[in-house]
Order: sequence, then C-alpha cells, then structure tokens
Amino acid sequence: MTLRDKANEIFLWGLDKRKDRIVSAWENHSRGAAEVAEKIAERVGMDKEKAYVMGLLHDIGRCYGPDTGMEHIIDGYNILMEKNMPEIARVCLTHSFNPKEKVNEINLKNPEEDAFLKRFLVETEYDDYDRLIQLADFMAGAHGVTTIERRFCSVLWRHGLKSPAEDLTTLYKIKNYFDKKAGIDVYEIFHEKIATTPFEGIPGKIETII
Ligand SMILES: [Fe+2]
Repeated sequence: MTLRDKANEIFLWGLDKRKDRIVSAWENHSRGAAEVAEKIAERVGMDKEKAYVMGLLHDIGRCYGPDTGMEHIIDGYNILMEKNMPEIARVCLTHSFNPKEKVNEINLKNPEEDAFLKRFLVETEYDDYDRLIQLADFMAGAHGVTTIERRFCSVLWRHGLKSPAEDLTTLYKIKNYFDKKAGIDVYEIFHEKIATTPFEGIPGKIETII
C-alpha cells in the first residue's frame, strides 16, 4: 500500500467518525490543503506524495468533532503516531504555530499534553514541509482552495486574532519563500480554483468552524 493510499484510508475513517453538519467544511479544507501542498511540492522539487499526505491529514484530529478546539492538534498527532506515521504526525503540531512562540498563547486541557506540545516545538526545527503545510493550511478554506487573504479574513472574523498584522506578515514571508522557490507567484498554480471557490465566513453569517 502506498503512503497516499494509507492516508486516504485514514481520512475516510476520520470522515466516517464525523457525522455533524460541518463535516463538508473540514473535508473541503483538508482536501484543499492536500492539493495545494502537493502541487507546490511538485513545482519546487519536494516529495509531492508526502506533501499531499501531510496536507490531507494535518487536521485529522478534527474527526472527533467540531468542538475539540486546539485539542485537535494533539488528537491528530496521537492518531498518526498510532498508525506509525511520525513524519506526518509532526505537522499536526507544527502547522498551527508560526512563529513557534505562538504556542505560549494556548494551553491544552491536559497539562501533560500541553507540556509535551511545548517541548516538542522547542526541540523541532521547522523544515520546508512544516512551512509548506503552514501555507497550505491558509490557502484552503471551507469551500476549497483559496487565497491567504480570504482565508485570513474568515479566521479573523470567526475567532479574532491577537496580532493580525504580525500573523499576516508571517504568512506572506512563507508565501514569498515558496514563490521564490517556484519561480512564480504560487497563486498562479491554482488560478482557476481560486477564481471559483466561494468566499467563506461573511460576518454575521458564519457557516463554518474549520
Ligand atoms: Fe487546517
């Protein structure tokens, strides 16, 4: 069984666990992140199958429901470690924290898991796969592939952010990094998808939680 087949199987297992109304948002977001990661990886000479799998499974912890909050990152990590996929499991933790210090803004409910997460991030040096999934996460919305700008507005409206200007700058640094590696604006790779993906999260009409 290829890594891609194994990942697709785990993803379908996760979808099956979720029976709530926003399962499609989570599915669209995950499939969008997988597509973005795979296509950028191919363009810049990274392992495209590994990138696809990381994108598809980075939020697998959300299979336990819409109300798991930040616990979904450790849930996802644990699921993939149980499946003996440590290389993929790491992005469940790293994709949410750029810069790493943002981890100090959250506390997981379980103190041992919280300590583990913080230690893990200190001890882990981010590589291009971590950065790629951080970008892919913000180019995938509840309806599929989109731009950082649109996704960012949705997140800001739904959750609020402590330091939006800094967060946006950090995201653009990652995008610029991959633009340079790709030799084009990476939005060009997804031109048609971006043009046809509906806008999400209009203020006052919040439909999604992902
Ligand atoms: Fe995500």
